[in-house]
Parts: sequence; C-alpha cells; structure tokens
Amino acid sequence: MDALEALQSRVSSSRLKGDVGSRALDNMFKAALRAPDHGLLKPWRFLIIKGEGRNHLGELFARADLSQNPSLTPQALAKTKAKPLRAPIIIVGIACITEHKSVPEIEQLLSGGAAIENMMVAAHAQGVGAMWRTGAMAYNEIVNAGLGLKDNERILGYLYLGQVDRRRRSLTPLDTEKYFTEWHG
Ligand SMILES: Cc1cc2nc3c(=O)[nH]c(=O)nc-3n(C[C@H](O)[C@H](O)[C@H](O)COP(=O)(O)O)c2cc1C
Repeated sequence: MDALEALQSRVSSSRLKGDVGSRALDNMFKAALRAPDHGLLKPWRFLIIKGEGRNHLGELFARADLSQNPSLTPQALAKTKAKPLRAPIIIVGIACITEHKSVPEIEQLLSGGAAIENMMVAAHAQGVGAMWRTGAMAYNEIVNAGLGLKDNERILGYLYLGQVDRRRRSLTPLDTEKYFTEWHG
C-alpha cells in the first residue's frame, strides 16, 4: 500500500486477535519516531505490553477503578480487568513534558499524538489493525504510578494492535470543503 492510500484509508479496528510480527512492529516504531517535534525534544516514550503483561495491566486497571468507585460490582470489575485482553499487544503512548522557553506543553502533547498517529498509519499500511483508546484509565494516578510514570509524564493513549478479526468498517468520504476553507484576510 502506498503512503497516500494508507493515509486516506486508515480505519480503527476494535476486534483484534492474532499477533503482530516483529518486523511490522519495528516499522511502526520507526514511524512513531519520525513525528514532527518542535525543538527536537523527543517528548515521548512508549511501553510495550503483551502476553502476561496484559493481565498485570488488567489488575492495575481493576485496582484503579475500585479506588475510584468502591461500590463497583464484581461484574464491572471483571470487565475493567479484561480490557487489556482486547488485543494481543498494547503500546502505551506517554508524553514526557519538559519546561522549554519556546516549546509549550501543548506542542509536546501534539507531537506525542502525531507519533501515535504515525504508528496507526504504519500499522494500517502493513495490514495490522489498530485502535487508539483512552478512557478513565488514561487519566488515573494509580495507573500512572503502576506504569512507572514520573510527575512530568502523561498517558496519551493505549494503542491496541493485532490482526483484524472482522472486515474493516467501510468509510464514507467526507467533504473536504466543509473543513478546509480559504481565508483571504
Ligand atoms: C485521543 C483519542 C482517544 C480516543 N479514545 C477512545 C476510547 O477510549 N474509546 C474508543 O472507542 N475510541 C477512542 N478513540 C477513537 C477511536 O480510536 C477512533 O479514532 C474513532 O472511533 C473513529 O474511528 P476511525 O479511526 O476508524 O475513523 C480515541 C481517539 C483519540 C484521538
């Protein structure tokens, strides 16, 4: 698939099953590191979670969820715990924010978002399914501590990866003129 086709046809896949090859992953990681980055700060890092690590992440999610919602039912808790099992591999995107005289925090966060998007497009170009997820577990202090985040770090998202289990959703093309308009002053 060429670059334009990959960019214009990328779609998220929520049902992910089979494993992702190391070569495909390596291509995705290299794509992430080509994200635009004001000041060349490299304001990001990534955790790779697979196999048994997903169960440990599920236990961490359950602990965090329970501390926020002490009256959680066992069923709801089991659902939270099982969330990381929705894909064989998860990449946690983390923004590492530093004080910089000309690169404010928002630019460092945007750079991290671009890195995740680069990974998604690289995944799609190689036939790998991907889904960017956040939710409460992306903004929780217990989860942050469990994943080893420092005070200046924030979770940008969990990128779930795997082989697509169902046919990809078909896309309705959007009208570019609705979103891109000329400005003449
Ligand atoms: C920062 C961010 C966080 C997201 N978090 C979630 C999420 O927690 N759950 C979810 O179902 N979709 C989430 N999404 C959206 C999906 O990943 C997906 O992009 C959306 O459903 C549109 O589908 P498409 O990517 O195929 O166009 C998030 C997207 C972004 C950019």
